[in-house]
Amino acid sequence: MKPNIEAERDAKAGTITMDEIWIQGGRRLQGRVACGGSKNATLPVLAAAMLAPGRYTLTNVPDLMDVATMAKMLGQFGITSERPEKNTLLIDTRNQRNAEAPYELVKTMRASIYVLGPLLARYGEARVSLPGGCAWGPRPVDLHIKGMEALGAEIEIDHGYIVARAPHGLRGGAISFDISSVGATGNILMAAATAAGRTTIENAACEPEIEALARFLLSMGAEIEGIGTPRLVVNGVPDLHPADAPMIPDRIEAGTLLVASAITGGDVEVTGVDPTHLGAVLNKLEAAGSSLETSDTTVRLRAPERPEPINVTTKPYPGFPTDMQAQFMALLSVAKGASTIVDTIYHDRFTHVAELERLGADIRVEGNTAFVQGVEGLSGAPVMATDLRASAALILAGLVAGGETRVSRVYHLDRGYERLEAKLASLGAVVRRVRP
Ligand code: EPZ
Repeated sequence: MKPNIEAERDAKAGTITMDEIWIQGGRRLQGRVACGGSKNATLPVLAAAMLAPGRYTLTNVPDLMDVATMAKMLGQFGITSERPEKNTLLIDTRNQRNAEAPYELVKTMRASIYVLGPLLARYGEARVSLPGGCAWGPRPVDLHIKGMEALGAEIEIDHGYIVARAPHGLRGGAISFDISSVGATGNILMAAATAAGRTTIENAACEPEIEALARFLLSMGAEIEGIGTPRLVVNGVPDLHPADAPMIPDRIEAGTLLVASAITGGDVEVTGVDPTHLGAVLNKLEAAGSSLETSDTTVRLRAPERPEPINVTTKPYPGFPTDMQAQFMALLSVAKGASTIVDTIYHDRFTHVAELERLGADIRVEGNTAFVQGVEGLSGAPVMATDLRASAALILAGLVAGGETRVSRVYHLDRGYERLEAKLASLGAVVRRVRP
């Protein structure tokens, strides 16, 4: 599969493609497909490379837009990156300098906020644009800011920018989150790694991507205890050194591919997976009637004609991930009965509902709960992607809808999936990317 050079070109040019994905529904998916490396593990690891000058080789790196955007963001700071092959990224931070993380870039990808901690740690000052909202609502960064203040930084907001200073360097502190935050936990881990003294983080995020970041920091010479638990202790070290690492598998891509099998009554084996990262998702797929076979690196899912109705509530890891909520809504829209989906992480992450209804789904939203009445079948129609996981949900629904479904604005999809349509086609789906 050729590198997603369009994504690289568009990211470099700052443009977006208006491609569409067209699907002829009704095919039962069968076969074997590989899952790629984790987008949400790669982004913080790229930011962590800012902590130590040198060269880094990262492998199993997905070839998708958000990674290209983060590489472009690092370029603002004099950091070069190259892909000697599709899923390998070489990062060189030997000529790194401090600069500003500009609104034009940060607004396109909220994860840009990950540069805040490393900049403060390296230079004692940072100027990072506030990210703004996203398709489904506000995305605050107050926990990131509180974390940096706990490490001794002085923060002010100036014309939409976070202006952070730690003239005497960062020092260890005690942080306790009232809500679990993946990004804030990652940012604080990176800032604390070279802060003077000990940092404790209570109610830290336990997502595999944060565990992977912590292990990457360990490989750079950081001292971190409690990795994978909600209580992290960081003993600051004077400096870190570069490291190489493979990215962990993308559990959300794996979950999306498994739902593709489940929604079409298919029989698909996904390889290159870490099933231990998918416990809650696999439990819910079984509850919805699928049978699973797992090995250390694979999951095979065989599905009945139609899924059973179930109830899903999203939670921080190891609970059911909010990033699988939209995909499950597509699945349950054709279940044999009524299901409920509650999103406790983002109360308004339901922009995919109106588009699923265009395909014939019967969904009612009250607050942060969606009541999904399964229907016999969906019917293909033109629909519009509104965000990354909504795009995937619409494509999944198109796999089972009668006739043709045309999903527009798939630049959302390209942010977080590496040629998803090609992977689905390799399993027998009639799907193609169309450039209008
Ligand atoms: C990460 O976003 C993921 N992104 C998201 O995946 C994922 O949906 C989210 O975690 C939850 O699992 C990346 O890893 C790049 P949070 P993040 O901080 O870190 C609130 C995808 O599809 N909050 O864990 O931004 C926040 O509003 C993306 O790949 C604050 O109130 O999420 C939310 O309700 C979409 N203040 C909750 O915490 C803050 O300062 C969890 O957010 C930060 C967050």
